[in-house]
Amino acid sequence: MDQMIAWTEVGSVADIPRQGSRVVKTAFGDVALFRTATDEVFALEDRCPHKGGPLSQGIVHGRRVTCPLHNWVIELATGEAVAPDEGCAGHVPVRIEGGVISLALAARTPGRGGCHG
Ligand code: FES
Repeated sequence: MDQMIAWTEVGSVADIPRQGSRVVKTAFGDVALFRTATDEVFALEDRCPHKGGPLSQGIVHGRRVTCPLHNWVIELATGEAVAPDEGCAGHVPVRIEGGVISLALAARTPGRGGCHG
């Protein structure tokens, strides 16, 4: 069912430390890949919806990351800020096959206009 989606390989799960992240440069800007303690991988624009902080340098806990600048908490699965904060970091669909991570960059949800636009 993926025929309409262009997937771009960006490395392997093993390249990302557990509860850590890695930045991938793309034509759409920097994308932060996050790996949870349970080996799920999520991708968000590396730009906090608050003031543009580097989410890739935040702390991963559960399925969330805390921005290093002012401690906003962002849901990795959606890019949305956890209430009471509001905003969206922009979410990029991730596929993992044989430990290789691919991103659907063209299908990303740009964050600057919010998640719901
Ligand atoms: S820039 Fe991320 S919380 Fe302020």
